[in-house]
Amino acid sequence: MFCDQLIVEFDRALKTLFSGEDYFENSEYCPADLVSNLSPEEEKLSGALMRVNHTGEVCAQALYSGQLLMAREPAVKSLLVKVVDEENAHLRATGRRLRELKVKSSKFDPFFYGGAFIFGTLAGVLGDRWSLGFVAETEKQVEKHLEEHLGRLPNHDHRSKAVLTKMREDEIRHGLEASSQGGSELPDKVRSIMGVTAGVMKIIAYRV
Ligand SMILES: [Fe+2]
Ligand SMILES: [Fe+2]
Repeated sequence: MFCDQLIVEFDRALKTLFSGEDYFENSEYCPADLVSNLSPEEEKLSGALMRVNHTGEVCAQALYSGQLLMAREPAVKSLLVKVVDEENAHLRATGRRLRELKVKSSKFDPFFYGGAFIFGTLAGVLGDRWSLGFVAETEKQVEKHLEEHLGRLPNHDHRSKAVLTKMREDEIRHGLEASSQGGSELPDKVRSIMGVTAGVMKIIAYRV
């Protein structure tokens, strides 16, 4: 039922934004014995980059849960449930790394969550084909972004790199699955609005 789903999504928003440290204990994306010996400057750079990645995963939770709320076909709903679950694993893995780097998540996460949830709900309202196309395009942009961050992280920050490398594999698969289920290619204008919006989020989350 729609009301039940609404409660589930509200609960997801609260967990994403206000959970304590235990929630972020996800070691699946980064083995415990992997070591990153960083100088204070390198730690600062890694912290800022990983805060951006954590905020990206906050947005992924919000986008896809808005889309899930509006999805019609059972196959599309089950794909979105699976994707939201894996994005949640990303959220916890980046959250854990932030804590290791002694960095706080972005102060603007509640604002980003709200905006992304509205975006996702609108994409869902347009119908399953557009919604899947939105997933495919989002994942394509995220894949490019992760590649860029893998290049910018300090050379021996093996722990952050392990997290982003595994995430990148998952994001590529999410995009391919959404396309193969019939996602429509988005108009250029929509794709560039998505790129600009993500760019603003990255600039803000890098700083605070
Ligand atoms: Fe993700
Ligand atoms: Fe993804």
